[in-house]
Amino acid sequence: MAHWPADQVVAVCSLAGGVGRTTLAGLFALTLAGLPYAQLHRPIALGELDPSPLSRSRTRWGVPPDLDHIAVTPVGGRVRILADIGAPADGRPVRIIDSPAGLAKTLQVAATYPASSIVLLSRPDRASLADTAAALIWLQDVQRVGRDRLTVVVNHGVGPVDPGSKAAATALGIRCRSVHRFPAHTALKPGTPLPSGRQTPRALHRVLIRLCADVYNSTVCNSAGYSSTRPTASTSSPTLPEEHSHA
Ligand SMILES: Nc1ncnc2c1ncn2[C@@H]1O[C@H](COP(=O)(O)OP(=O)(O)OP(=O)(O)O)[C@@H](O)[C@H]1O
Ligand SMILES: [Mg+2]
Repeated sequence: MAHWPADQVVAVCSLAGGVGRTTLAGLFALTLAGLPYAQLHRPIALGELDPSPLSRSRTRWGVPPDLDHIAVTPVGGRVRILADIGAPADGRPVRIIDSPAGLAKTLQVAATYPASSIVLLSRPDRASLADTAAALIWLQDVQRVGRDRLTVVVNHGVGPVDPGSKAAATALGIRCRSVHRFPAHTALKPGTPLPSGRQTPRALHRVLIRLCADVYNSTVCNSAGYSSTRPTASTSSPTLPEEHSHA
């Protein structure tokens, strides 16, 4: 898995704010950098697509203000923070993009990088899952983003679960490569830097490794040109599912 195709792009996005994009993007990058032999490969690049001066993401990722990388894990893999994560990067690293809420910017990334993977986060309540289903349909049928490029993560750490949520989450699998349940965990509570390496709780590590493997498989398929559909450059549509403001 450390042998990801050069220039690979993974966009972590959600319809609403506060769903865990910064948390998951950081954990994803740290997980890749913590894999065996990661020290032999290019650093993983991580960044916000639209960094704001008040952003707390670097703090969340455990990056001191004066550094551009976090040294990780006993294997010595590294995560580099890129200020301009959306632009082509020197050294052709794998890039993990923390996209802003809503799908417009993510679609630009999808159009710019036709082999990129999209990780769509959802809250676990039925209304959010229904919005996520509508977003998947819109991404595929209107924007022509291939099903294999889409992975859904249902984050149980950011809201209540309704009766029927499990079935609604499972049904999303019809319209994406896979659906992952990301558990709530006290290690991810606000104000703490993300755990990495051996500090990562096992329940989280298991999900993260499976997620990385899935996205890796999708990147290999897409890079080999197996993806049947390509996105258009369009970033707006009257049928775009409703986007919610920060909860
Ligand atoms: N699985 C989880 N378990 C516990 N807490 C979580 C989990 N995932 C996210 N959180 C908490 O939810 C909050 C929102 O997470 P995060 O900042 O990653 O979301 P975001 O989508 O990037 O938000 P924003 O729209 O502000 O950029 C944070 O306080 C974080 O600590
Ligand atoms: Mg964020």
